[in-house]
Amino acid sequence: KIFTSPAKGSAFAAQEIATLIKDKQAKKEDCVLGLATGSTPIHLYAELVKLHKEEGLSFKNVITFNLDEYFPLEHEAIQSYWSFMHRHLFNHVDILPTNIHIPNGEIAKEDIKKHCQKYEQLIEALGGIDLQILGIGNNGHIGFNEPGSSIFSKTRLVTLDNSTRMANSRDFQGISQVPRLAITMGISTILKAKKVILLAWGNKAPIVAKAVEGHVTEQIPASILQQHNDCLFVVDEMAASDL
Ligand code: GLP
Repeated sequence: KIFTSPAKGSAFAAQEIATLIKDKQAKKEDCVLGLATGSTPIHLYAELVKLHKEEGLSFKNVITFNLDEYFPLEHEAIQSYWSFMHRHLFNHVDILPTNIHIPNGEIAKEDIKKHCQKYEQLIEALGGIDLQILGIGNNGHIGFNEPGSSIFSKTRLVTLDNSTRMANSRDFQGISQVPRLAITMGISTILKAKKVILLAWGNKAPIVAKAVEGHVTEQIPASILQQHNDCLFVVDEMAASDL
Protein backbone atom coordinates (compact mmCIF):
# COMPACT_ATOMS: atom_id res chain seq x y z
CA LYS A 1 0.00 0.00 0.00
CA ILE A 2 1.48 3.30 -1.08
CA PHE A 3 0.70 6.48 0.86
CA THR A 4 1.53 10.10 0.07
CA SER A 5 3.35 10.55 3.38
CA PRO A 6 4.78 8.55 6.32
CA ALA A 7 2.13 10.20 8.52
CA LYS A 8 -0.69 8.75 6.39
CA GLY A 9 0.93 5.31 6.23
CA SER A 10 1.46 5.35 10.00
CA ALA A 11 -2.17 6.36 10.62
CA PHE A 12 -3.30 3.44 8.45
CA ALA A 13 -1.10 0.97 10.35
CA ALA A 14 -2.33 2.38 13.69
CA GLN A 15 -5.92 1.80 12.58
CA GLU A 16 -5.11 -1.80 11.63
CA ILE A 17 -3.67 -2.36 15.10
CA ALA A 18 -6.58 -0.60 16.82
CA THR A 19 -9.13 -2.69 14.90
CA LEU A 20 -7.34 -5.89 15.86
CA ILE A 21 -7.12 -4.88 19.55
CA LYS A 22 -10.85 -4.03 19.60
CA ASP A 23 -11.85 -7.25 17.78
CA LYS A 24 -9.90 -9.23 20.34
CA GLN A 25 -11.45 -7.21 23.21
CA ALA A 26 -14.93 -8.02 21.88
CA LYS A 27 -14.02 -11.72 21.95
CA LYS A 28 -12.41 -11.33 25.40
CA GLU A 29 -9.12 -12.48 23.96
CA ASP A 30 -5.55 -11.20 24.30
CA CYS A 31 -3.99 -9.42 21.35
CA VAL A 32 -0.36 -10.43 20.82
CA LEU A 33 1.64 -7.77 18.98
CA GLY A 34 5.20 -8.04 17.67
CA LEU A 35 6.80 -4.60 17.77
CA ALA A 36 9.74 -2.92 16.06
CA THR A 37 12.05 -0.04 16.88
CA GLY A 38 14.07 2.40 14.77
CA SER A 39 13.00 5.75 13.37
CA THR A 40 10.36 4.19 11.10
CA PRO A 41 7.63 3.24 13.63
CA ILE A 42 7.92 6.38 15.81
CA HIS A 43 4.95 8.02 14.12
CA LEU A 44 2.91 4.82 14.38
CA TYR A 45 3.44 4.73 18.15
CA ALA A 46 2.48 8.41 18.39
CA GLU A 47 -0.76 7.57 16.56
CA LEU A 48 -1.49 4.71 18.95
CA VAL A 49 -0.91 7.01 21.95
CA LYS A 50 -3.31 9.49 20.35
CA LEU A 51 -5.95 6.78 19.88
CA HIS A 52 -5.52 5.82 23.54
CA LYS A 53 -5.79 9.41 24.82
CA GLU A 54 -8.46 10.73 22.47
CA GLU A 55 -10.57 7.68 21.69
CA GLY A 56 -9.98 5.56 24.78
CA LEU A 57 -8.28 2.69 22.94
CA SER A 58 -7.24 0.37 25.78
CA PHE A 59 -4.11 -1.78 25.77
CA LYS A 60 -5.18 -3.87 28.77
CA ASN A 61 -5.59 -6.98 26.59
CA VAL A 62 -2.38 -6.34 24.64
CA ILE A 63 0.71 -8.48 25.06
CA THR A 64 3.83 -7.30 23.23
CA PHE A 65 7.03 -8.94 22.05
CA ASN A 66 9.75 -6.71 20.72
CA LEU A 67 11.89 -7.91 17.87
CA ASP A 68 15.30 -7.15 19.23
CA GLU A 69 17.71 -5.48 21.64
CA TYR A 70 21.38 -4.60 21.63
CA PHE A 71 23.67 -6.80 23.71
CA PRO A 72 25.04 -5.92 26.13
CA LEU A 73 23.13 -2.77 26.99
CA GLU A 74 21.35 -1.70 30.19
CA HIS A 75 17.59 -1.06 30.00
CA GLU A 76 18.10 2.50 31.21
CA ALA A 77 20.57 3.43 28.44
CA ILE A 78 18.91 5.98 26.19
CA GLN A 79 19.82 3.89 23.11
CA SER A 80 18.27 0.66 24.40
CA TYR A 81 15.13 -0.57 22.68
CA TRP A 82 13.71 -1.01 26.19
CA SER A 83 14.04 2.78 26.66
CA PHE A 84 12.78 3.47 23.15
CA MET A 85 9.59 1.48 23.63
CA HIS A 86 8.82 3.02 27.02
CA ARG A 87 9.55 6.52 25.72
CA HIS A 88 7.42 6.23 22.58
CA LEU A 89 4.60 3.92 23.64
CA PHE A 90 4.49 2.00 26.91
CA ASN A 91 4.74 5.00 29.26
CA HIS A 92 1.74 6.61 27.59
CA VAL A 93 -0.82 3.78 27.38
CA ASP A 94 -2.50 1.43 29.85
CA ILE A 95 -0.55 -1.72 28.94
CA LEU A 96 0.22 -3.97 31.94
CA PRO A 97 4.00 -3.97 32.58
CA THR A 98 3.90 -7.77 32.90
CA ASN A 99 2.56 -7.98 29.33
CA ILE A 100 5.66 -6.29 27.88
CA HIS A 101 8.42 -8.54 26.53
CA ILE A 102 11.71 -7.25 25.14
CA PRO A 103 14.87 -9.34 24.67
CA ASN A 104 17.03 -8.65 27.72
CA GLY A 105 20.23 -6.75 26.94
CA GLU A 106 21.32 -7.05 30.59
CA ILE A 107 21.33 -10.83 30.86
CA ALA A 108 24.53 -12.77 31.57
CA LYS A 109 26.04 -14.14 28.36
CA GLU A 110 25.80 -17.74 29.56
CA ASP A 111 22.04 -17.33 30.11
CA ILE A 112 21.24 -15.99 26.64
CA LYS A 113 20.43 -19.34 25.08
CA LYS A 114 17.85 -20.14 27.76
CA HIS A 115 16.45 -16.62 27.60
CA CYS A 116 15.95 -16.94 23.83
CA GLN A 117 14.32 -20.36 24.15
CA LYS A 118 11.94 -18.97 26.78
CA TYR A 119 11.07 -16.05 24.49
CA GLU A 120 10.07 -18.47 21.74
CA GLN A 121 8.15 -20.71 24.15
CA LEU A 122 6.21 -17.81 25.60
CA ILE A 123 5.13 -16.58 22.16
CA GLU A 124 4.01 -20.09 21.30
CA ALA A 125 2.18 -20.59 24.60
CA LEU A 126 0.16 -17.44 23.91
CA GLY A 127 -0.95 -18.82 20.55
CA GLY A 128 1.60 -16.91 18.44
CA ILE A 129 1.91 -13.30 17.35
CA ASP A 130 -1.31 -11.92 15.87
CA LEU A 131 0.33 -8.97 14.13
CA GLN A 132 4.03 -8.30 13.65
CA ILE A 133 5.20 -4.76 12.83
CA LEU A 134 8.53 -4.51 11.00
CA GLY A 135 10.89 -1.88 9.69
CA ILE A 136 13.63 -2.68 7.19
CA GLY A 137 17.36 -2.01 7.29
CA ASN A 138 19.15 -0.65 4.23
CA ASN A 139 20.73 -4.08 3.78
CA GLY A 140 17.33 -5.79 3.98
CA HIS A 141 17.56 -6.83 7.62
CA ILE A 142 14.38 -7.39 9.60
CA GLY A 143 14.76 -7.20 13.36
CA PHE A 144 18.50 -7.74 13.57
CA ASN A 145 18.45 -10.65 11.12
CA GLU A 146 21.32 -9.57 8.93
CA PRO A 147 21.91 -10.87 5.37
CA GLY A 148 22.68 -14.58 5.51
CA SER A 149 20.32 -15.26 8.42
CA SER A 150 18.71 -18.64 7.96
CA ILE A 151 15.04 -18.92 7.10
CA PHE A 152 14.89 -21.38 10.03
CA SER A 153 16.51 -19.00 12.54
CA LYS A 154 14.90 -18.45 15.93
CA THR A 155 15.47 -15.90 18.69
CA ARG A 156 19.22 -15.79 19.23
CA LEU A 157 22.38 -13.76 19.77
CA VAL A 158 23.72 -12.28 16.52
CA THR A 159 26.66 -10.18 15.36
CA LEU A 160 25.66 -6.87 13.79
CA ASP A 161 26.88 -5.97 10.30
CA ASN A 162 29.24 -3.06 10.12
CA SER A 163 26.75 -1.19 7.89
CA THR A 164 24.07 -1.60 10.57
CA ARG A 165 26.40 -0.35 13.30
CA MET A 166 27.28 2.60 11.08
CA ALA A 167 23.60 3.42 10.37
CA ASN A 168 22.72 3.13 14.06
CA SER A 169 25.74 5.10 15.26
CA ARG A 170 23.57 8.22 14.98
CA ASP A 171 22.04 7.14 18.31
CA PHE A 172 25.42 6.62 20.01
CA GLN A 173 28.54 8.72 20.49
CA GLY A 174 30.30 7.26 17.49
CA ILE A 175 30.43 3.81 15.95
CA SER A 176 32.83 2.45 18.57
CA GLN A 177 30.04 2.85 21.14
CA VAL A 178 27.52 0.77 19.15
CA PRO A 179 27.30 -2.76 20.60
CA ARG A 180 28.64 -5.47 18.28
CA LEU A 181 25.99 -7.97 19.30
CA ALA A 182 22.22 -8.08 19.62
CA ILE A 183 19.45 -10.49 20.55
CA THR A 184 16.83 -10.79 17.83
CA MET A 185 13.79 -12.85 17.02
CA GLY A 186 14.63 -15.14 14.11
CA ILE A 187 13.28 -15.19 10.57
CA SER A 188 11.20 -18.27 11.42
CA THR A 189 9.83 -16.49 14.51
CA ILE A 190 8.72 -13.58 12.31
CA LEU A 191 7.29 -15.86 9.62
CA LYS A 192 5.09 -17.58 12.21
CA ALA A 193 3.21 -14.32 12.94
CA LYS A 194 -0.35 -14.51 11.62
CA LYS A 195 -0.06 -11.13 9.92
CA VAL A 196 2.95 -8.94 9.12
CA ILE A 197 3.02 -5.22 8.32
CA LEU A 198 6.38 -3.82 7.19
CA LEU A 199 6.75 -0.03 7.19
CA ALA A 200 9.27 1.85 5.04
CA TRP A 201 9.66 5.53 4.30
CA GLY A 202 11.91 7.85 2.33
CA ASN A 203 15.27 6.62 1.12
CA LYS A 204 14.47 2.90 1.46
CA ALA A 205 13.35 2.61 -2.22
CA PRO A 206 16.21 0.35 -3.46
CA ILE A 207 15.85 -2.19 -0.66
CA VAL A 208 12.03 -2.10 -0.77
CA ALA A 209 12.18 -2.95 -4.49
CA LYS A 210 14.59 -5.85 -3.84
CA ALA A 211 12.45 -7.16 -0.98
CA VAL A 212 9.16 -6.98 -2.91
CA GLU A 213 10.21 -7.75 -6.48
CA GLY A 214 13.60 -9.45 -6.22
CA HIS A 215 14.43 -13.11 -5.73
CA VAL A 216 13.62 -14.65 -2.39
CA THR A 217 17.03 -14.96 -0.79
CA GLU A 218 18.54 -15.14 2.66
CA GLN A 219 20.93 -12.43 1.43
CA ILE A 220 17.94 -10.02 1.57
CA PRO A 221 16.12 -11.20 4.71
CA ALA A 222 13.02 -9.06 3.99
CA SER A 223 12.56 -10.83 0.61
CA ILE A 224 11.67 -13.99 2.54
CA LEU A 225 8.43 -12.22 3.53
CA GLN A 226 7.24 -12.93 -0.04
CA GLN A 227 6.56 -16.42 1.27
CA HIS A 228 4.27 -15.21 4.06
CA ASN A 229 0.51 -15.62 3.53
CA ASP A 230 -0.53 -12.27 4.96
CA CYS A 231 2.21 -9.68 4.66
CA LEU A 232 1.64 -6.06 3.75
CA PHE A 233 4.28 -3.45 2.92
CA VAL A 234 3.10 0.03 3.91
CA VAL A 235 5.33 2.57 2.16
CA ASP A 236 5.35 6.22 1.21
CA GLU A 237 5.74 7.39 -2.39
CA MET A 238 9.48 7.88 -2.06
CA ALA A 239 10.09 4.39 -0.68
CA ALA A 240 7.91 3.02 -3.51
CA SER A 241 9.76 4.88 -6.25
CA ASP A 242 11.86 1.91 -7.45
CA LEU A 243 8.91 -0.49 -7.69
C1 GLP B 1 17.35 -1.21 13.22
C2 GLP B 1 16.36 -2.20 13.89
C3 GLP B 1 15.34 -2.71 12.90
C4 GLP B 1 14.85 -1.53 12.09
C5 GLP B 1 15.96 -1.04 11.18
C6 GLP B 1 15.64 0.22 10.41
O1 GLP B 1 18.66 -1.63 13.28
N1 GLP B 1 16.94 -3.30 14.57
O2 GLP B 1 14.29 -3.37 13.58
O3 GLP B 1 13.77 -1.91 11.29
O4 GLP B 1 17.19 -0.95 11.86
O5 GLP B 1 15.82 1.38 11.17
P1 GLP B 1 15.14 2.75 10.81
O6 GLP B 1 13.66 2.56 11.00
O7 GLP B 1 15.71 3.74 11.78
O8 GLP B 1 15.49 3.04 9.39
